[in-house]
Formats: sequence, C-alpha cells, structure tokens
Amino acid sequence: MNILITGGSGFIGKNFIKSLLNKNKIHKIINVDLNKKNFFFHSKVKNIKSDIGNKKNIISILKNYNPSFIVNFAAHTHVDRSIYEPINFIRNNILKTAIFFEAIREEYSKNKNFRILHVSTDEVYGSLKSKEKSFSEKNKYFPNNPYSASKASADHLAQSYFKTFKFPILVSNCSNNYGPFQNPEKLIPLIINNCINKKNIPIYGKGDQVRDWLHVEDHCSALWKILRKGRLGENYNIGGTEECTNLYITLEICKIMDGFINDGKNSKNLIKFVKDRPGHDFRYSINYDKIKNELKWEPKVSLKKGLYNTVKWYLQSHKWLKNQSTKNHNLWIKKNYEDR
Ligand code: DAU
Repeated sequence: MNILITGGSGFIGKNFIKSLLNKNKIHKIINVDLNKKNFFFHSKVKNIKSDIGNKKNIISILKNYNPSFIVNFAAHTHVDRSIYEPINFIRNNILKTAIFFEAIREEYSKNKNFRILHVSTDEVYGSLKSKEKSFSEKNKYFPNNPYSASKASADHLAQSYFKTFKFPILVSNCSNNYGPFQNPEKLIPLIINNCINKKNIPIYGKGDQVRDWLHVEDHCSALWKILRKGRLGENYNIGGTEECTNLYITLEICKIMDGFINDGKNSKNLIKFVKDRPGHDFRYSINYDKIKNELKWEPKVSLKKGLYNTVKWYLQSHKWLKNQSTKNHNLWIKKNYEDR
C-alpha cells in the first residue's frame, strides 16, 4: 500500500514519515513538498518537489502511485508570520488546500479506495480562560489570528466536501507539538537555539499564557490511528495533558540546558520580556476523550522526559539547526516586540 504525505519536509510531516518506516504494509511513502532542502531520504520514500496547489501535478502523482491513504500536513504554520503576511497564509492554507482537495476529488471519482486525513490545530477553537473546560470536538470554532482563521477555513472545506461530495476525509486538531526537527522560530527550539547562541529569549507579555504540550511521536501515533480507524467526516482532538505556562516551560528548558552546557552561566538570565503578540490566545487545552474512547489512543511521552530528549537532540543536531532560517522571525521580533 502507498501513502501520500504533503508537507513531509516540515516538522510533523517528517516525524510522521519516520514513524511509518517500520510499518511493513507500507510499500512507498510519497512526500510532496516544495521545501527540497528538508527532504527526508530513505529507500521507502519518494520525494517530489511540488506545490499542493498545482492540480495537474497532484493528479499525475495520484495516477502514478495510487495511494490508499493521504495525509495533508502542508500549511504555513507560524502564527507570528501570519500577522505580518496574512495573504500568504490565506493563499496557502485555504486556496491551495481547496485545489488539492479538488485534484483528489477528480481522481477519487474513479477510484474509491482513498482515505484522507487533514491535519489541523486546536487554535481553531480560539482561547480559553484559566478555569474554562478544555476544547472538545463539540466546541464552536473561534479563530483569533490569520493562521488559525486559515486553518479553520480549511477544516470547514474538508467537512463540506465530506457532506457534499462524500469525500472520504477526516480532520485532526492537535495541541502544541514539540520534538526533533521543529523550526527554531517556534517557542521550544527557539529557547534551545538562543541558549546555545547566548541570545535573548523573547517572552511575549508576562509569559503567563498556557499551552498543552504534545510530543510529536504521540501526535504521529494518534494520526496513524485516526487515518486507519477514525470515522469519516469526523474531527478528532489530540492533546498531551501537559498544560503549563510559557514562562514555566522556558525555565525548565533553561535548567536542562545548564545541565548540558555546564559553563557556570545561568541560561535563565537570557530571558527578556517583550511586547505581547497581537491577538495572543491565552490558553489552549484539549479534551481527547473521543480518540481515547473510540480509538484507544493516549499520549505516552511525559513533558519532563520529552523535553530532556528534545534538548539532547538539538544539541546533537548542529548542522540541521544551522541550516534553518530564522532571519525573518528575528527581524520581526526586533521590529515589533523588543521595545515596549
Ligand atoms: O496549538 C497548536 C499550534 O501550536 C499550531 O497550530 C501552530 O502551528 C504552532 O505554531 C503552535 O502555535 P503557537 O503560537 O502556540 O506556537 P509558538 O511556538 O509560536 O508559541 C508558543 C507560545 O509561546 C505562544 O503563547 C507564544 C509564545 N512565544 C513564542 C515565541 C516564538 C513567546 O513568548 N516568545 C517567542 O519568541
């Protein structure tokens, strides 16, 4: 059986590809991504440089490889970037996703053996107060930034395709992921990278916002279950039950870093409180009862162990880290956040 992955050069897509390598039933993993620099090479993986919005290419890939499963990771994912270039997010996360669905729909009318998983985010539900109940699949969508609004739109498209065209699609909504291969524009790798380079760690506002951290390996095992066993047309929430404030997680990582670097310096001195992110969601928290009860999935990696292993991975992955561009993010921080 073949599986088509879009966005397999990105953080979660790449980890998902790696998690598939030891599955004997899978013959070929086809990765469609524009980012050639971050392709993952393996005899089971066929990398194809293409835009998901190129309908002709997608149809020809479907014809050539006839995948039984499709997982759509391809998206612009960084909230801060979506604030300074919203149109890019709307074009990529909505329009190109719609074209991708159309390409599949055209092919699907001839071959009904697909299942498609559209990977989305808990940000579509908006923001919670400290004591409010965690997001369940029954919550309404209340996206607060261009990124989450673009993801919410694509989720709605997916649901509408299921209802209108009997498109065999499922949607997953996960909380904040962490682990190997995450771009250092995101909080956890940014902290690690800045500790390594002795640069300031910018913390937005007071750092009291809460995120529900999920190790990427747990996320990948949930996706595999949903893809094979989930009910078509349904959303499934995936969370880590490891809620903590941004400041708490920053201090934890600084402690782990100090243990590894051991140069007598205190990484927490690098913390710099900067202006808050516009429209910053205060808290995300996931209720994952549905996937737990229906598909018997639960997260396994504790935040403590996951963070330790993640720091270790980044310290051992200098070359990869150096190759990731953080230029735009640093400029954005300088321009918009630093002087308050
Ligand atoms: O909840 C799932 C979402 O998690 C995914 O859909 C997004 O693609 C992913 O980027 C992530 O969104 P966040 O905005 O929560 O992640 P980020 O790593 O950018 O920020 C995490 C928290 O840390 C957030 O409250 C903002 C704060 N932060 C972030 C950065 C980059 C800082 O305080 N300083 C920073 O420099």
